[in-house]
Amino acid sequence: MKGIQDRGLWCTRSFVNGQWLEGQRHFAVHNPANGAWLADVAEAGAEETTAAVEAAYRAQQEWARLPAAQRSKTLMAWHDAMLANIDDLARILTLEQGKPLAEAKGEVAYGASYVKWFAEEAVRVYGDTIPGPGPDKRVLVIKQPVGVVGSITPWNFPNAMMVRKAAPALAAGCAFVAKPAAETPLSALAVAELARRAGLPDGVFNVVVGTDAPAIGQVLTQHPHIRKFSFTGSTATGKRLLAQCAEGVKRTSMELGGNAPFIVFADADLDAAVEGLMLAKFRNAGQTCVCSNRIFVERSVYEAFAQKVRAAVAGLKVGDGLEPETHIGPLISEQAVSKVAELVSASVAEGAQAEAVTDVPSQGHYYPPTVLSGVSNRMAVARNEIFGPVLPLIPFDDEASVIAEANDSEFGLAAYLYSRDIGRVFRVSEALEYGMVAVNDGILSNAAAPFGGMKASGHGREGSKYGLDDYLDIKYLCLGGMDR
Ligand code: SIN
Repeated sequence: MKGIQDRGLWCTRSFVNGQWLEGQRHFAVHNPANGAWLADVAEAGAEETTAAVEAAYRAQQEWARLPAAQRSKTLMAWHDAMLANIDDLARILTLEQGKPLAEAKGEVAYGASYVKWFAEEAVRVYGDTIPGPGPDKRVLVIKQPVGVVGSITPWNFPNAMMVRKAAPALAAGCAFVAKPAAETPLSALAVAELARRAGLPDGVFNVVVGTDAPAIGQVLTQHPHIRKFSFTGSTATGKRLLAQCAEGVKRTSMELGGNAPFIVFADADLDAAVEGLMLAKFRNAGQTCVCSNRIFVERSVYEAFAQKVRAAVAGLKVGDGLEPETHIGPLISEQAVSKVAELVSASVAEGAQAEAVTDVPSQGHYYPPTVLSGVSNRMAVARNEIFGPVLPLIPFDDEASVIAEANDSEFGLAAYLYSRDIGRVFRVSEALEYGMVAVNDGILSNAAAPFGGMKASGHGREGSKYGLDDYLDIKYLCLGGMDR
């Protein structure tokens, strides 16, 4: 709890129906920067999750009946509470997740921006009138909340991933049951305490924390009161959860894995491209679904670009996220470190050259930022989502071949391209099979934009005017007898 100003935000029990649940058993949360114990958290399982879903079901209809302006006001109070407590929320996040404090603060502000966005969108759920097929008929379309929403969110953004699902759901008039990752439950629980203080009615917003993910996941995907399930995480887990949802024909949103190409054409501003790449690659130590995973560089500028990249990477400081000079924190676990190390070894065995240009602390789950050169699109490091600070450089010869290589992946979440040729910008953006394309920019996530993927990266959109639709059902009213 070191350094937390408001100790009421250090919550270690599930939040169900406005109450903090005691537990018979507990699980420990550790700081990935040094392995230090942070908290014992009360275990919730299928029983507590069922209670949360049932409380949400009881609370939802009344919440949906409130005027949208009132829901909006409550969400805005929640947003304000997040920003008023940003220092504590960021510290909790860094302690349990490891990212540098400045990035953690950025994440809290990022999460809160979705609450503000959807508080504003709540009052703009428009329907339609459509010309009827005959003189006696009128066609009306209204939109209604889907009902109770279950969600499972990952450890890489313990605050923002959960908040950006909850915000549109609550704005639409749904009730919400969140299951954050067991590695990082404290951020979501702190946000639940702020929801309570902001006046969200009991049962409308619930957070269950526990290590038995299959048992909790089964309730959240199969309970009859769950009408929609929203997941952010790996494609492998997403496929299993989708299969579970299929049985009850639940609506789903799936934000799954990525394998982002980052394409640098010879006509690009190379310094701007390096700057964008540093953000797109090393944000959260490379543990984001939108991280640039394969860096394609046109052969004529490959060497010049690689030199600039090596110089930029050499300036990165790896360490505890609470240290002010840290750029890159630890990975989430030792297992994560081993997985990255295996991908790098496999690619080196296939002919790539690895350069780890900085030192890392001896304690904690660290992996050094590594530039891999001489990589081909067929190597292990290019076929898999790295989820670590490894930057593979792949040369290419022309536009058509790089588009083909970039699209040669089961994933389709984010892609990046750097070019100053406007025709090429449009041609390549349109040809890339990705849900999001950043042009001459290394960061594409914001509340105004529709975040989401295609192919094995999932479906559904978070943020923007489209984000609310994921939590609304369309209902058509057929009015007859209008000519009498
Ligand atoms: C993710 O890694 O899943 C989300 C990253 C983002 O919102 O930018």
